Amino acid sequence: MARKTVETPCDVRDLDLARAGKSRIEWAGRTMPVLRKIAARFRKEKPLAGTRIAACLHVTTETANLALTLQAGGADVVLTASNPLSTQDEVAASLVSHHGISVYAIKGEDHHTYYEHLRAGMAHGPSITMDDGADLVSAFQFLATNRIKDLAAPIREWVKTLSDAERGKLLSGIIGGTEETTTGVIRLKAMERDGVLRFPIIAVNDADTKHLFDNRYGTGQSTIDGVLRATNLLLAGCQVVVCGYGWCGRGVAGKAKGMGANVIVTEVDPLRALEARMDGFAVMPIRDAAKAGDLFITVTGDIHVIGREEFRAMKDGAIVCNSGHFNVELDLNALEKMSVKRRAIRPFVEEFTLKGGKKIFVLGEGRLVNLASAEGHPASVMDMSFANQALSAEFMKNNAKKLEKKVYRVPLDIDREIARLKLESMGVKIDKLTREQEKYLRSWDMGT
Ligand code: NAI
Repeated sequence: MARKTVETPCDVRDLDLARAGKSRIEWAGRTMPVLRKIAARFRKEKPLAGTRIAACLHVTTETANLALTLQAGGADVVLTASNPLSTQDEVAASLVSHHGISVYAIKGEDHHTYYEHLRAGMAHGPSITMDDGADLVSAFQFLATNRIKDLAAPIREWVKTLSDAERGKLLSGIIGGTEETTTGVIRLKAMERDGVLRFPIIAVNDADTKHLFDNRYGTGQSTIDGVLRATNLLLAGCQVVVCGYGWCGRGVAGKAKGMGANVIVTEVDPLRALEARMDGFAVMPIRDAAKAGDLFITVTGDIHVIGREEFRAMKDGAIVCNSGHFNVELDLNALEKMSVKRRAIRPFVEEFTLKGGKKIFVLGEGRLVNLASAEGHPASVMDMSFANQALSAEFMKNNAKKLEKKVYRVPLDIDREIARLKLESMGVKIDKLTREQEKYLRSWDMGT
């Protein structure tokens, strides 16, 4: 492997891109004041000294600032891509060249390379895992339960070369992990339910300062950004179908509406559907929405939300994309089978011609469109998500022994403190409860 390098082992596109990466990382860092504050403390206190972190995250400018914060805290960090299309190659190059952080990530890497990179993260021998989608923990899980055949080929072949003692050392060295996204948390909770989770996990996604902001405002804005950069579509007057009205879906729907689109929401949860309806959106089953939409965006975390029947019902020229974690929300195998021709028409836009001549356009190969054709979330919102990551890593280092093999929320005091620091950085002041108000809010008989 290693298309590299100086002294830092890596696999990145081109180390000559490092200069451009450096200034982009600095640019993102400017709007990450909370993380900066944590980095300054970490630099002094070194709370992560002796910690080996394998981070499987989108390799973006914001993640670079997180990696630098962890490094400032004394951690030995290796970074691998959590999606084949989300890597910013110049950022990867800069982390290696300027900061000596091993990065294994190349934008557009194939399936084999993706897992070869994940293997490099595992081989780092982490004490803390940091996942975005639980790929790293899942691979360790297959290893621990001896389901070697379920591992992707590059990991499987490597594992076969390890002695039992080496495998044992690798697994017993992990004290805990953190998870960034909804889909990862769902998988990890399933492991906990099945009694197979091997170490405690902190669900960063479930912190209020994460999903209420990152998923809603971050995914909302950057998904629209991804669509526009890929297509240059006019959203005003466009019929946009948003599948899923969770934290991401409500962000996407709200931003699309703000740009003048007519938004239709599809849901499977009656409560969420009701919220969408009362937020002013049309709500209908996907079968009906399929006929009406000009642009379809899936953000459900579910599989095959749009498939054969929906593609068949769509208008000529419909554009389809996904911003949920895995590229399974659109059934592209079905679309491929229905098509007589498939060609790239612009960067991140593929044209599928169906029998009969109808054309359907797919963005970013059905992978996270905000990271494939745009830059992912703005740094200002990732500031809070990654403040949660950094403080959760510190919490895990100090508390792992007291935790069970369960998925935990980010401690509430960390969550609140991040909100406080973010407000402070924005120069926003808020009121404090008076003593009387505190008492009133705790009582049942006062002031009646
Ligand atoms: P959520 O759980 O809040 O919302 C998902 C919604 O989809 C739920 O309301 C659910 O009822 C609905 N749903 C499930 N199956 C459906 C179906 N077949 N048709 C219509 N609706 C369906 O999850 P959240 O936080 O909104 O995340 C959604 C996905 O986005 C996850 O995969 C998550 O990991 C990913 N994500 C992506 C980001 C990005 O950068 N693009 C950032 C954050 C999360």
